Amino acid sequence: MSVSKKIQRIAVLTSGGDAPGMNAALRAVVLAADHYGIEVIAFRHGYQGLLDNEYLTMKPKDVLHVLQYSGTIIKSARCQRFKEESAATEAAANLEALNIDALVIIGGDGSFRGADHLANHWQGQIIGVPGTIDNDLYGTDATIGYATAVTIAMDALDKIRDTADAMDRVFIVEVMGREAGFIGLGSATAAGAERVVLPELQKDKPLTVSALVKHIQRVKEIRGEGSYVMVLSEHQWPGGAVALAEQLDAEYDLPCRPCLLGHIQRGGPPAPADRILASELGVHAIELILQGKHRVMAGMRANQCVDVPLRDTWEKKNPLASNLLRIQHEIFNPVKKNPRMNTQ
Ligand code: ADP
Ligand code: F6P
Repeated sequence: MSVSKKIQRIAVLTSGGDAPGMNAALRAVVLAADHYGIEVIAFRHGYQGLLDNEYLTMKPKDVLHVLQYSGTIIKSARCQRFKEESAATEAAANLEALNIDALVIIGGDGSFRGADHLANHWQGQIIGVPGTIDNDLYGTDATIGYATAVTIAMDALDKIRDTADAMDRVFIVEVMGREAGFIGLGSATAAGAERVVLPELQKDKPLTVSALVKHIQRVKEIRGEGSYVMVLSEHQWPGGAVALAEQLDAEYDLPCRPCLLGHIQRGGPPAPADRILASELGVHAIELILQGKHRVMAGMRANQCVDVPLRDTWEKKNPLASNLLRIQHEIFNPVKKNPRMNTQ
């Protein structure tokens, strides 16, 4: 690896919605930095800690046995004030005063926007590590946390199916991802849901109660008795799954049970895929710093470590898999009977 300049001291923080695997990424950053003889400090509570100068020195012993836990040992936060010009200037002054050569930011697209904002005011190198359950960053095949969240959602859907099937019931299961449908589409496909409502689809074809009722009826007509499980991404219906279930019952006399998975999707042991991805990307982030890279995200594409301009990660779109959408809607849950079956 070609090394551009002597990096002595770096900082790291976790920001935005916590994601399973953030601790594994932090561990990898600290261990890789130690390997290359670089000191590490961590700001607690994301950008808030950067503004408050709330930091601690991180040594390899501080990250022993943390990769099996979700959450983040250095805490995360959302910090509205960081969007202001004055906040970026203050943060830059804090980093200067601490002699920081580079900053690693583990977070999602909002955190990367914050990183870009800071880069306008600070001369040090900035590297992003994609940590979000939403999987909505351009330039990496997966983000750290997605694999765990989609597994938790799938497990819950499997459990719901047992009881739904026993009583031929309709369920609406609300999953996370208020702005991105990866968890919704992934879990619906993995668990064989009859229907999925995602933010990306809502723009062109918003859900209506009457269309949902028709779909439920059609599926029953085609398949006979049984359960109907719909996956609904957060914030896609006023009042969410509970309100929608109540409406189906009240207006269409169609009994329906809601289930909100909520923040359990961000907890528990991170999936192996997240631990492994986080480990690779944490090390990659340090090696990118040593290569003199700046304003990039450490990503993984087709099993290769890549670096992607930070702005591309939110300006370019990471689209939902169109083939999965097609399969989900046209092959697995068609609203028409197969014409070949009607010929006899
Ligand atoms: P995530 O990183 O998970 O997408 P958020 O969207 O909540 O989470 O963003 C995390 C934090 O990043 C925000 O609380 C704020 O401090 C910072 N941030 C987000 N957008 C901007 C922006 N446009 N300018 C500066 N900072 C931002
Ligand atoms: O962006 C991560 C995420 O977990 C989304 O999937 C979810 O919609 C949102 O954060 C929930 O935010 P909060 O933790 O603030 O309720």
